[in-house]
Amino acid sequence: MKKFLDLGFQPLANSYLNSRNLHIKEKKFKLIVGFNKENYLVSILNTVPKEMMFNKNYPYKSSESLTMRNAFKKLSNKIKKTFKPKSILEIGSNDGAFIKNFNKNKVIGVEPCNNLANITKRKGYKTYSEYWNINLAKKITTNKKIDLIYSANTLSHIKNFSEIFRAIEISLSKNGILILEDPSLLECIKKVAYDQFYCEHIYVFSTIALQKILSKFGLEIFDIENIDTHGGSNRYYIKKNVNTKFKIKKKVNKNVLQEKKFGLHKFITYKKFAKRVLSSKKKLYTIFKNLKLRKKKIIGYGATAKSCTVLNYCKIDKDKIDFIYDTTSFKINKYLPGSKIKIKKYKKLNRNEADYVFLGAWNFKEEIFNKEKQFIKNGGKFITHIPFPKII
Ligand code: TYD
Repeated sequence: MKKFLDLGFQPLANSYLNSRNLHIKEKKFKLIVGFNKENYLVSILNTVPKEMMFNKNYPYKSSESLTMRNAFKKLSNKIKKTFKPKSILEIGSNDGAFIKNFNKNKVIGVEPCNNLANITKRKGYKTYSEYWNINLAKKITTNKKIDLIYSANTLSHIKNFSEIFRAIEISLSKNGILILEDPSLLECIKKVAYDQFYCEHIYVFSTIALQKILSKFGLEIFDIENIDTHGGSNRYYIKKNVNTKFKIKKKVNKNVLQEKKFGLHKFITYKKFAKRVLSSKKKLYTIFKNLKLRKKKIIGYGATAKSCTVLNYCKIDKDKIDFIYDTTSFKINKYLPGSKIKIKKYKKLNRNEADYVFLGAWNFKEEIFNKEKQFIKNGGKFITHIPFPKII
């Protein structure tokens, strides 16, 4: 693993502070990103024990976003129509935004964060509040294999993916399908979205890396969809290579060629990316500094894990951003880790409160701009760092 990017010392992105622990020294870790030229994997080098991140306090709820709810609904309809699975299992079922689209007798959730697993359990969905591994796979699927396994934005969080894939391989029926969805490395590099890297995002996958890994487990990608979620993701349709029911679509090779054309198999591409990240940091800091010199009021929109990386890396704190609006009940009245900016319960943007709004949730830009038409009409502006720092 060769290091190419140093994002400095970072706190745990989802460890929101409250007023009691605001002045306690936070645990920080060095966020370094590297490239493995053997299997093309891009990953963070220092990882944090999973129990420190995925526990009963995990704040992220998929159902709170309209964009995500709609995306899960659309995918569920497609799955029912195209694959007609008799059994479905989701790894990382969160608060049930995906599984709730299926019949309770057909679907199983696996979710290690108790607070989230309890939500789906209470609604009558079979949910295992455990980490996905070989033991759990055997427990669930000894008598009956699964026709469709889905996992979105979860695999990138799991360090030991060998165990994960082995557990998937033993659970999946012969003609079963695995659908994985994660941020796309190509989009991340193109958009200089270095905030895809934080303690929980150990990996940002490319098609070429995933293909290499999957081949070790007798699995292969037969279709890919490039989707908008999380700032540009790939949805990979995967089968056992003994399964001849599904032909490998041209789209797979198209993605591979695009990634190779962009140089995702070469270290030099990542060195260039690191230079663009450094320049992005300087530009974003200058935008904030200049606006503050002009006494402009700046607030934030979306207390995301991504903004935790950006604000800490760029050294933008509560002197520059008065507060951040967020809709997630768990985050309200807490403080963003590291930068210690207060998070307030979302209210429609108002020109009396802000001249400029930093788009922490840039991946929901369309949804946000639609909601805040009046603010924009009244001359309110947004600051984004994607694909380069600018005022919109
Ligand atoms: P998310 O996209 O999951 O980012 P990350 O994975 O980096 O944490 O989180 C989106 C956050 O933005 C979430 O806390 C909810 C918030 N949000 C709002 O407050 N208002 C909105 O209109 C939208 C779309 C999101």
